[in-house]
Amino acid sequence: MSNTPRLYIQEVSVRDGFQIEPQFVPTEHKVALINALSRTGLSKIEVTSFTSPKAIPNLADAEAVMQQIDRVPGVTYAVLVPNVRGCERALSCGVDEINVFMSASRSHNMANLRMLPEQSLAQFESIVEHVDGRAFMNASLSTAFGCPFEGEVAAEHVLDLIEKFVAMGMQGVSLCDTTGMANPRQVEELCAEALRRWPHIAFTAHFHNTRGMGLANVLAALRAGVRHFDASLGGLGGCPFAPGASGNVCTEDMVHMLHAMGYETGVDLPLLLQAAQTLPDIVGHDIPGQVVKAGPWTRRYPLPDSARAALEATQDSV
Ligand code: COA
Ligand code: ZN
Repeated sequence: MSNTPRLYIQEVSVRDGFQIEPQFVPTEHKVALINALSRTGLSKIEVTSFTSPKAIPNLADAEAVMQQIDRVPGVTYAVLVPNVRGCERALSCGVDEINVFMSASRSHNMANLRMLPEQSLAQFESIVEHVDGRAFMNASLSTAFGCPFEGEVAAEHVLDLIEKFVAMGMQGVSLCDTTGMANPRQVEELCAEALRRWPHIAFTAHFHNTRGMGLANVLAALRAGVRHFDASLGGLGGCPFAPGASGNVCTEDMVHMLHAMGYETGVDLPLLLQAAQTLPDIVGHDIPGQVVKAGPWTRRYPLPDSARAALEATQDSV
């Protein structure tokens, strides 16, 4: 297929996924899953978050996980960080990338981070200064396409915030649809404008499939020129401080779709599916992912004998 740019698949199940699970996933299971994911060709894994263990008890073992994983060369190991304290913890573990996060809407920023957006921006500035080139700096903007408390979020407001991120030295920006409110037209327009204004920034699209628009939004972002996509194995995920939140776009379903369309991701789909098959045992429940159940589109079934006989009979009569 002509005109097929290389795409970068960034796995968030062990952070976005496990943070909202009803049960704490034991450290050894997290480490084993990250090690399996590291061998699938994913370009980035968001390993954990260095948040308050009171806010996110499921990721209270962040240091242990970072220290115990086998880091595969070529894979970027990123972590989510809400404040300077989290940044210090992350740097002490030698992370490759620090992903700071805030919301485009004031109310979700307060619910999630107990801060005003201005305070989050001030934290971001201190963090960039503190990191001083020791890790790649990415800023994630939650509720960038809509807020569960406030509704619509104006595209101009999102672009103003990106401007601030770029001015303070962020190298990457993730546009996050926290509760699946984005639609493909909105995604294409906002992503195209962001890429037009800041072509040197690595933009990531981060979608949740809460309203079934996840993969459609991936395609819309792709059409706009986005090349980095977050996704979560099995379709796990969600923000515990966003009512109605549910899973991210499912990694194996997204990779399957992109491969079927002829895109290169560097990901080994069979290995990813093997990892996805281990998830129900790890989390103790069924997972939303579809391809792991249906098999890839190349799967074929034996024709029932009656249909075969009927077909053969037709051929005989020709
Ligand atoms: N790592 C570990 N502990 C931290 C911390 C960090 N990065 N930041 C704060 N804490 C601790 C403080 O030491 C304090 O502990 P104590 O009660 O034992 O003294 C406690 O957390 C509260 O600290 P405070 O500064 O008052 O924070 P807060 O209660 O206003 O909460 C955040 C602010 C940002 C720390 C908290 O809201 C948070 O971690 N949110 C994460 C949200 C998230 O990850 N959402 C999902 C991703 S979308
Ligand atoms: Zn998310």
